[in-house]
Amino acid sequence: MLVLGIETTCDETAAAVVRRNEDGRGEILSDIILSQVAEHAPYGGVVPEIAARAHVEVLDRAVARAMIEANVSFSDLDGVAAAAGPGLIGGVIVGLTTAKAIALVAEKPLLAVNHLEAHALTARLTDGTPFPYCLFLASGGHTQILAVLDVGKYVRLGTTVDDAIGEAFDKTAKLLGLGYPGGPEVEREAQRGEPERFILPRPMLGRAEADFSLSGLKTALRMEAEKVAPLTDQDVADLCASFQQAVVDVVTDRLRAGLRLFREQFGGPTALVVAGGVAVNQSIRRALNRVAIGEGTVLVAPPPNLCTDNGAMIAWAGCERLALGMTDTLDVSPRARWPLDGDEWPRRGEKVS
Ligand code: KG4
Ligand code: ZN
Repeated sequence: MLVLGIETTCDETAAAVVRRNEDGRGEILSDIILSQVAEHAPYGGVVPEIAARAHVEVLDRAVARAMIEANVSFSDLDGVAAAAGPGLIGGVIVGLTTAKAIALVAEKPLLAVNHLEAHALTARLTDGTPFPYCLFLASGGHTQILAVLDVGKYVRLGTTVDDAIGEAFDKTAKLLGLGYPGGPEVEREAQRGEPERFILPRPMLGRAEADFSLSGLKTALRMEAEKVAPLTDQDVADLCASFQQAVVDVVTDRLRAGLRLFREQFGGPTALVVAGGVAVNQSIRRALNRVAIGEGTVLVAPPPNLCTDNGAMIAWAGCERLALGMTDTLDVSPRARWPLDGDEWPRRGEKVS
């Protein structure tokens, strides 16, 4: 089974071709990512209008390169997948419309993939992880602990009540005058910093439910930074290290709670799986590994380039859905909001509002 996957929900224009073999294992034949980081960097964050225009300008090229590198033609494909949301609506429209056009002309099934589902299923592409597993999805827009029970079956065990973890990293970086995206900058600074110099809160610690709250941490960090301003290089490094340590402590405690909730409701998970851009962070990965072992399971962490947004995860989610006959019609609508669980999943054929 060969599927082309298109990702345009945020600031990466990505296209990839993935093969799913009969034994259910996946193989990435090509994986093209054209990042817009340089275009958004002067603004310190993603500008939706710039993102949409940039997707229009380069998506055709990304698709062509993905097809050439995989050495396949449109007629070889078994399906065309695109992220149909959630995300910045301009970009989502560009990707989904392109996928619809290719599907229509090549007479192939369309797969309208939920971007979060694609993150959730990546561990099955990289490691063949069987259901059910516990997923920690931590990106710039999402912080969720989910029970992944089957393709299309997700139960949310915990979420953030305010900022996403990646957003907290990005805001911390901005506050300290570091570049965008902030996560990698804060991680780099933290390596030469003293994590115990600044006392920062660990919100939600010890609670039975598995929710997060991160905005208080950000406010506390700002107050500490104001106390020692003007900041030296060492102050910045120490603030980053203290912030990252607080996040690690919170993640450790919240994931323990999440795994306990999982066990109560669904029995033991096959693994703790991590996904999303924040999953690139080495300190967070190490902490999650300790949590997984402590709770009697294993950590599955896809390689960094498959944790951040990419086309291969969309193509793979398309493969998984196509194998189950879960295809979409050409009137499926792009969606800015599309939670993985709850009433809104799945709702098809809506008009864009
Ligand atoms: O999944 P992703 O590529 O895009 C979405 O948000 O969907 O995640 C991007 C987020 C950004 O907030 C970025 O700062 C964060 O992931 N991130 C990191 C690291 N690398 C990327 N956060 C902490 N440490 C990192 N090394
Ligand atoms: Zn993402």
